[in-house]
Amino acid sequence: MIYYLIGILCIVALEIVMTLKQYENNININNMHIFSTAVYYVYLIFVIEYFHDRPQMNIINIFLMFVLFAPLTIAGQLIFNRFKQFAQAILLSIAAEIYIMILQKIDTGKINILFLFVPLLGGVAGFIVGKMIRNIFPRIRRFLIIRKRKRSRLSKVNLFELEITCSVFMIMFLMISTIEAFSGNNFDEKLNKTLKYEVTNKKDKYKNIYFADQDKYERYEAYRKANPEMELEDVVWRVDANLDQKFYDDAYIKYSDASTDEPLLINKFNRVRDDFKPKNLVTIEGRYVATEETVDAYKMLTGDLKKEGMKIYVVSSYRDIKYQNRLYNNYLKSDKKEVVDTYSSRPGFSEHHTGRALDVSQVSGNLNVFEGSPEAKWVYENAYKYGFIVRYKENQMDVTGYIFEPWHIVYVGKDISQTMHDENIETLEEYVVKYIDHTPGKE
Ligand code: DAL
Ligand code: ZN
Repeated sequence: MIYYLIGILCIVALEIVMTLKQYENNININNMHIFSTAVYYVYLIFVIEYFHDRPQMNIINIFLMFVLFAPLTIAGQLIFNRFKQFAQAILLSIAAEIYIMILQKIDTGKINILFLFVPLLGGVAGFIVGKMIRNIFPRIRRFLIIRKRKRSRLSKVNLFELEITCSVFMIMFLMISTIEAFSGNNFDEKLNKTLKYEVTNKKDKYKNIYFADQDKYERYEAYRKANPEMELEDVVWRVDANLDQKFYDDAYIKYSDASTDEPLLINKFNRVRDDFKPKNLVTIEGRYVATEETVDAYKMLTGDLKKEGMKIYVVSSYRDIKYQNRLYNNYLKSDKKEVVDTYSSRPGFSEHHTGRALDVSQVSGNLNVFEGSPEAKWVYENAYKYGFIVRYKENQMDVTGYIFEPWHIVYVGKDISQTMHDENIETLEEYVVKYIDHTPGKE
């Protein structure tokens, strides 16, 4: 935006000076020529503004523009010999507009019609103001004009001055954009922030968030508007995790990767296949089964817990889809579906299908007494050391879809549990977006 404003002001100033000088020196003023020059330079400013954070693109586009404009100018002169200035001006303007449209379409997939009018503004404004000064304020004009020069040389001198001045501005813009790109500073954004100006360029807003996906910009914007207090990064990972959608929305449900026996993320958008059964199920505490790694890690955990003088029992572990189906339907007898959905997974969507989730309690067969117990506190604080996470934490219902379940732990492996602990990541949903679906440090 700032580039536009500065650029258009420069063009207005240049147009005024040029018109005044030509008038003062009795040179026939070719308004169309002035107009086309203005369009041409405002267009340059558009290109620079549009790609101001990508200096390489600036240079490529300015080069492309010369390639496009040079033949047009020559052809214009040959074909429209009689009205050549007029035809040239029209052709140049149309070419500039078409080119802007193509660039926009390529870069954003959309065309903003407003942009088509912007290049015309500088030219028109300069032309009108120049005329006003010439007709209405002759004294100012006389004051502004320094001295007369020889007629024959003047038109060249004027054009030469104009070209040089515009080139200086172009180089200035290019330099600013290059400094911005390499220093990581965005002057434009800073100005916008100072003026509390809404940054409308979505790309500028999300491009520094490595887990932002380009095809989700519209969804980020909508979610941000619905949650104005939320940090931008939180908006992005939440949308990436589909939290802007309704839980269990068919359009967003995915089957966990069929190639793995250890699907990491199972939630209300990610389910196991109907025939899924984890390998390496082994017995734990006599009547339960869980995957071997889960059981090994659990034994380590309970071993250390014992040293603290405490003991916990498995209350539930691996469950197949049929079992979950019975459980879920049983709950429906006493609670409404919306309520059941807050504490029980629908069949196919339970982490217990993976064989890596365990429900534990210090009282065998009773989960309800676990919350607030010293055992629960110890598990909450230490589970990560063994590769477990407390999966449904307090106040995370909008992310997990479930109420606080201090008893439900899931084995994710030490690397993941350690990272989540170190980075204060409360949910597996956030972890998967930031570390599995996207690689930190990459765009
Ligand atoms: N209680 C958890 C959410 C389950 O049913 O899997
Ligand atoms: Zn559970």
